[in-house]
Amino acid sequence: MDTTGPRTAESLAARFHDVDSSGVPDDFIAYLRKMEESESGRAVREVTYRALEAAEGKGADIGCGAGRAVADLVRLGKDAVGVDSSQAMVDAALARFPHCRVVRGSAFELPFEDGELSWYRSERTFLHFGDPAEALAEARRVLRPGGTIVLADPDLGSMVLSSRISETTDAVKDAFCSAVPNPHAGTRSAYHLADAGFTDIEVVPVMAALNDHASAFDVVLEPALTAALAQGAVSEEAAARWKDDLSDISRRNAFTATATFFVTTARLAS
Ligand SMILES: C[S@@+](CC[C@H](N)C(=O)[O-])C[C@H]1O[C@@H](n2cnc3c(N)ncnc32)[C@H](O)[C@@H]1O
Repeated sequence: MDTTGPRTAESLAARFHDVDSSGVPDDFIAYLRKMEESESGRAVREVTYRALEAAEGKGADIGCGAGRAVADLVRLGKDAVGVDSSQAMVDAALARFPHCRVVRGSAFELPFEDGELSWYRSERTFLHFGDPAEALAEARRVLRPGGTIVLADPDLGSMVLSSRISETTDAVKDAFCSAVPNPHAGTRSAYHLADAGFTDIEVVPVMAALNDHASAFDVVLEPALTAALAQGAVSEEAAARWKDDLSDISRRNAFTATATFFVTTARLAS
């Protein structure tokens, strides 16, 4: 199994809001690139690009990570700027896509004037915000009236998998949810946007399949299981039984795991 990437749900959750002080920013960059190359990563990005098709003028990808979406949007003719709070991410994005503009900045204090942006995009970042309403207040400030906002996040409660030991699966899922500041971001963004005064809210669910057992463990199940063990939600024996069960299912080509992402689009009233 590939061993790059944050090793625990705590590190995923607690460190994505401060990658630079994790001491292992390259692991986070490698993790993002792996997700980026997945079929579901591509599908989620495509839905966000379609939502921005009609948007004209300058916009920003907030929490842009290693820069894939900024580069795609520039290729699609958008005036796009990437913003990320991590210098390591900004450096990685600029090294990959030197023709793009990527700057360091926080979603809570964006480096833009009032009303400077026509669109705002953020993928898998609100999941890591304890106070999404505060980030949306800042999004409101930088968007012009009529501007478009697109948020893409999973709801971690939507994870399902073909384990025969449901109680361990539930404990692992709960542990993962409790290790992430905003685990239900995907399904809650719509009403957070409504609360923040955005209109014309639309939600497109995108199911992400992780049908490869090794990748599913690498990307999500191993970090989630580590969280469950650390929280005492499952015993070592139960964890071993659960892993054996999933390995057995996988050997019989019967492994399935899915989670649903939600792409939520809205407009700032004119
Ligand atoms: C899970 S990654 C997603 C990256 C990218 N959007 C993608 O889909 O590949 C979350 C990103 O948000 C950044 N981030 C976390 N907190 C932030 C904040 N307050 N302001 C801006 N970026 C932030 C992290 O550095 C990281 O690059």
